[in-house]
Amino acid sequence: MKALVVYATITGNNEDVADIITEVLENQDVEVEETEITMADPADFEDVDICVVCPYTYDEGALPEEGMDFYEDLQDEELDGKVYGVAGSGDTFYGDNFCKAVDDFGKVFEETGATKGSENVHVNLAPEEDDIVKLDEFAKQLVEKAGQND
Ligand SMILES: Cc1cc2nc3c(=O)[nH]c(=O)nc-3n(C[C@H](O)[C@H](O)[C@H](O)COP(=O)(O)O)c2cc1C
Repeated sequence: MKALVVYATITGNNEDVADIITEVLENQDVEVEETEITMADPADFEDVDICVVCPYTYDEGALPEEGMDFYEDLQDEELDGKVYGVAGSGDTFYGDNFCKAVDDFGKVFEETGATKGSENVHVNLAPEEDDIVKLDEFAKQLVEKAGQND
């Protein structure tokens, strides 16, 4: 089983989120590639079973600026038969816009025809112990769902 984990980060929190997910997937015998969003192409999801995005949210619920091309190209992908998951770090200080980019990516994945493998995970700032538990569960659910798709 293969996975691609794509993250966008400014201060490192979402790279940490991606690292945690990658480690859990690898421990489940998944072959994982972890890539920063400007180095990634949504077409690369065609070659894997599990598609993961970990985006930060910026000004008033904005998507990562450097990830806009990726976000737009993802809308043109057909990912039937793939399993997706979105997890990311934001800041609860931003109220209704907390982790909005996570949910925006989730909506786009839904339109690609991919199967949702787990509920979106919202992390407040740097992932702490309870977040690690949630991310562990998230990654294991993705593997389980992808196993059912085989
Ligand atoms: C100017 C600015 C605007 C932000 N806007 C939001 C926001 O609308 N929603 C949110 O959840 N987090 C917002 N954040 C918080 C970041 O998403 C949060 O710090 C996140 O952990 C950064 O991830 P990174 O370390 O991967 O860059 C904002 C941060 C800054 C500096």
